[in-house]
Parts: sequence; C-alpha cells; structure tokens
Amino acid sequence: MNEFLRACRREATSFTPIWLMRQAGRYQPEYRALRQRYGFVEMCKNSDVAAEVTLLPVTQLGVDAAIIFADILLILEPLGIGFHFTKDDGPKIEKPVRTSADVDKVAAHVDSEASLGYVLDAIRKTRSGLPANVPLIGFSGAPFTLASYVIEGGGSRDYMHTKAMMFGDPGAWNTLMEKLTLAIAGYLNAQVKAGAQAVQVFDSWIGALGPSDYAQYVQPHMKKLFSLLDPSAPVIHFGTGNPALYPLMKAAGGDVIGIDFRCELGSTWDALGDVALMGNLDPYSLLAPRAELQKRAQRVLDAARKRPGHIFNLGHGLFPEASVDQVRALVDYVHEASAR
Ligand code: CP3
Repeated sequence: MNEFLRACRREATSFTPIWLMRQAGRYQPEYRALRQRYGFVEMCKNSDVAAEVTLLPVTQLGVDAAIIFADILLILEPLGIGFHFTKDDGPKIEKPVRTSADVDKVAAHVDSEASLGYVLDAIRKTRSGLPANVPLIGFSGAPFTLASYVIEGGGSRDYMHTKAMMFGDPGAWNTLMEKLTLAIAGYLNAQVKAGAQAVQVFDSWIGALGPSDYAQYVQPHMKKLFSLLDPSAPVIHFGTGNPALYPLMKAAGGDVIGIDFRCELGSTWDALGDVALMGNLDPYSLLAPRAELQKRAQRVLDAARKRPGHIFNLGHGLFPEASVDQVRALVDYVHEASAR
C-alpha cells in the first residue's frame, strides 16, 4: 500500500504524503496546450485526454496520488440540469432550480455507467497508465455545494437564493438534497468500482453556513451520503470557509477531513481527535520566494507533529498563475523535510 492510502487509514508512514487540489490545470504549459485544442468539458468527456491530463502532475511533480480529471458539475447533466462554462464568469446553469416545481423536475435516478461512463472510462485508462504505487482519487461535489450552484445559477457571494429555499421551503430543499445525495453516492461507488482507490467529497462552499444551519439543513444528508459509500475506499470530506463547521463535518463522516487555510492545523486536529487530516497551506504561499514557501510548509508540518494520518495539501486548489517549478519545490520539500 502507498503512503497516501496508509495516511488515510491513520497508519504510520515513512514521510508525509502530498497531493494538491487542482494539480492538473492551467498553471501547466502542457495543459494550456491541450486547452488550445479542446473545450474544458470536451476534455473531461474525452477519456483519453482526461487520463493523459490526470497523469501529468504525477510525472511532473512526483505527488503521492493522482485525482481524476473531471469536474463536480458533470453530474448535473444526467440530473437534467443544463450548464456551460463561460470564458470569464465560470459555470452558468441554464435554468436555475428555484421552486418546488423546479425541484420535482430534477431526475430522481442517475445511471452513472450510462451517463457518466466517460469519467469511469477515464478512471480505468488512468489506472492502467499509473505506476502501481500511485493511487487514484475519484471525487464528487457535496450535496450543498452542488445545490448552491443549481439554485444560484452559478457561483455566488451571498447564497441568497439557496438560503431562501432552505429557510423558506425546507420541503423542496430536502427533496433536492435527497436527489443529489443518491446521485452522488451512486456516482462515487461507480468510480470506486472502476478503479478509484479513495474518493473526495468537495463541499467547497459550505462555509456560507453557520453551525446550527449546517446541523439542521446539511448534516443529515451528509450522514446519509457517507452511509451509502463503498467502505473499501477511504473518503476525504473537504470543506472550506468556516472552521467552526469541522467538528460537525467530522461527525457527519469521512476517514479524512480536508481543511482550508483559515484555521491552524495543530489545534484543529487536537479538537477533532481520531480522524486523518488533509491540509492546509494557503495556495498563494507559492507566490512567495522559495525560502518563505518552505518556511510556511514547515509550519504546517510542525503543526501536524508527525501524527499518523496527515496528508499534506493546499487549503484550496492550485491557481493558474502558480509556477510549475515552485509547485515541484513544494512537493520535494515536504518529502524531504518530513522523512522519518
Ligand atoms: O483537482 C484536480 O486536478 C482534478 C480536477 C478538478 C477540476 N475541478 C478541474 C477544473 C476538480 C477536483 C474540480 C472540482 C471543482 N470544480 C470544484 C471543487 C474544488 C474547488 O475548487 O473548490 C468546484 C467548485 C468546481 C466548479 C468549477 N470548475 C469552477 C467554479 C470552475 C471555473 C473556475 C476556474 O477555475 O476556471 C471550474 C473549471 C475547472 N475545473 C477548470 C479545471 C482544470 C478550469 C477549466 C479551464 O481549463 O478553463
């Protein structure tokens, strides 16, 4: 077993494993060259290209896990919710889901093999191209984060429409969350069956909520989701924006809690207790000079105190302006500085 999978299970490792959210993307010249030829969704739907892009950071950076190249929004298509990516404003949902009648039109069942088979093919192709000791991570958006996209119609600053449904029509909210939960569970289990050795649930926008609303409107659905997942693959439960939610996220489920950079890793882990932890370097540390980047990475390693179960990652995704050299230097530094 490799060090990443060992850490997911809180077993001792010979160094701290590292991978980076958005490790395949526009900061890589090879990715930008492919993007000249294909649209982003087109790349996701072409399993040969998706597998090639997934493998890029493994050879280029020496990370300890690959994550399948796809997007959290792809599952919306089989749910009957059309979307596209705009050049400047990110994703746009064609007809936002705002009323209980809209919720009723969302598909109640998703056949992942039939409708998202291209992701599963990309997983199979990536798995056969990866070195045996580098595991492949599958992923999905979490119900809240996907619900916020479909209700708002895109990214949001205030989550006004999402909260209007949540607080104003909890029946419609719960029906939407249930449909998303079942679709996500089936999709993640299909990814594991296709060869993903761990899965990550991205609740990227969960920080829009306070703890009591999380407990009331989201946590029951998350518990249900984790109860449905194939127990053979470890699950990373990632959320950003509000560190006060981490204890509730841990109680909901997941073998690994993924934290952002808005909290101190050491005290967060002390408070959470018996769970593996992924994080949590501020991605923009990569813009600092090399010595400062290493100092900041060391601070994260010091906070983890070599406790079994630490997976080094950024507190959120890599960004297009990052330099490949700096990212590689971070991976090398974490490997060298954490060697036991
Ligand atoms: O991590 C990886 O390398 C795997 C691939 C991956 C992508 N998106 C590729 C991508 C993963 C795991 C995601 C998850 C995702 N997608 C999230 C959760 C993670 C997070 O950042 O919080 C979210 C919120 C999305 C939705 C999404 N996809 C947005 C808002 C955007 C536009 C913003 C942007 O960065 O351009 C995307 C597009 C996207 N997803 C790109 C990539 C490489 C850029 C597409 C391009 O080439 O133009």
